[in-house]
Amino acid sequence: MILDFGSQYTQLIARRVRELNVYCEIYPFDSFPAPDGTVKGVILSGSPWSVRDAKAPFPDLKGIKGRVPLLGVCYGAQYLTHAYGGEVLPSKTREYGRAKLVKIDTADPLFTGVTPGTQVWMSHGDTIIRTPDGYNITGSTEDVSLAAFHITGEQTWGIQFHPEVYHTTEGTKMLGNFVRGICGCHAEWTPESFVEMTVRSLKEQIGNDRVVLGLSGGVDSSVAALLLDRAIGDRLTSIFVDNGLLRKNEYSAVLDAYRRMGLNVLGVDASAEFVEGLRGVDDPEKKRKIIGRKFIEVFDREAHRVQNVKWLAQGTIYPDVIESVSVNGPSATIKSHHNVGGLPEKMHLKVVEPLRLLFKDEVRRVGQALGMPGEILGRHPFPGPGLAIRIVGDVTPAKLETLRDADEIFISGLKKNGFYDKVWQAAVILLPVQSVGVMGDERTYENAVVLRAVSSTDGMTADWSHLPHEFLAEISNQIINRVKGVNRVVYDISSKPPSTIEWE
Ligand code: XMP
Repeated sequence: MILDFGSQYTQLIARRVRELNVYCEIYPFDSFPAPDGTVKGVILSGSPWSVRDAKAPFPDLKGIKGRVPLLGVCYGAQYLTHAYGGEVLPSKTREYGRAKLVKIDTADPLFTGVTPGTQVWMSHGDTIIRTPDGYNITGSTEDVSLAAFHITGEQTWGIQFHPEVYHTTEGTKMLGNFVRGICGCHAEWTPESFVEMTVRSLKEQIGNDRVVLGLSGGVDSSVAALLLDRAIGDRLTSIFVDNGLLRKNEYSAVLDAYRRMGLNVLGVDASAEFVEGLRGVDDPEKKRKIIGRKFIEVFDREAHRVQNVKWLAQGTIYPDVIESVSVNGPSATIKSHHNVGGLPEKMHLKVVEPLRLLFKDEVRRVGQALGMPGEILGRHPFPGPGLAIRIVGDVTPAKLETLRDADEIFISGLKKNGFYDKVWQAAVILLPVQSVGVMGDERTYENAVVLRAVSSTDGMTADWSHLPHEFLAEISNQIINRVKGVNRVVYDISSKPPSTIEWE
């Protein structure tokens, strides 16, 4: 169990522990279940607060400290000092960034196999000046003599550096020493075990009811569908809507792939309705609203054709569920997912979310364990409103066709040249800008398109991809020669922030 004090790194602790194949959950520091036999250990996260602040988060560790193994990280370690009679004050020396653990007690089980002098990552404004009695100092850096401690006679440790960040070279080893060595957890949290456990609990939860699920073609909803298919087979009806804003041939290719996977899937071609609803609308937020509303309408209509439905399944994942802001109250905001907020209420259905405990990379691994084909598993993210937000200005069938043709050339070029998997997301954007060109003996006055390719891990920040000039030249040539109405291709070299990935 990880108690969250609001650190930007709390989710990272959970990911590292899960990478060790040990299951963990994050709870707000002031609202967590009393540890029963299932909790093998507790990690206290860092925090933007100082323990000396009047409003600093103070957890009640009565049922935990001294009863189950406990590891305080950064603020967690400072809290274990401050609250039990030690002293924590603002640091005088530099305690941000890389440091070396010059002294380590290698006999301490937290540091088994850790190399003396190993690099750690510090990030705190306060530092521990004096520990309470009975605290053994087990690690020091040049600037921080009280970098790590163990409480004598207790399974309690504190470290002022962050083992969860990449810059702490042997951080995973330390976390492994804690969760596997000290807490005695086995490396049992694997994609296969998740599948087995989830399928079993889905069977129990759903019984003989029927479930509907909206497939988007993306990884999350597809993996959710496969899991449910394993659990309840054809009592799951998946609905894949063609909103007319998908890529070239995407609807039929993805629908085929779903059928090959054995899913009971209903394809709904509603493209004309969506495109008609968007006619003359150029404001991006209005476009999103129209598409979102239309989706609910179409999905609701189609789902009603299925008899006796009791459940709506969604591909919600862990980052959508938790927000590392427990200091502001537990999970204040839960993001609406895939632009279908409001569906369960409208349809009076119970919600089932088989992926709500998984991080994105875990979803991919579960998909792999379920035998999902690479063509779905490795797909770039694609926005719910699709090509509508890649046509700057109003959307028309002619513009959609132009954009689809250009996009097809770019995406298949990336695939052919081995760049597709190296790029996080790629797109073509059609601009409402015309410029002068010359083709043969004729002067042209046609549209410009933008190629966009970015590297990212979560879409929150992104850098433009440094694709080779020769490749870009080839794509530009192909687009201008083959796509009617386009006479200029530009490459977007903006990063996010301050730009965004999409243009609208
Ligand atoms: P931005 O443009 O905000 O995009 O940098 C970040 C990621 O979110 C996707 N995106 C959306 N996805 N509905 C979605 O489902 C939307 O309205 C939407 N807008 C942006 C975008 O494709 C990128 O992956």
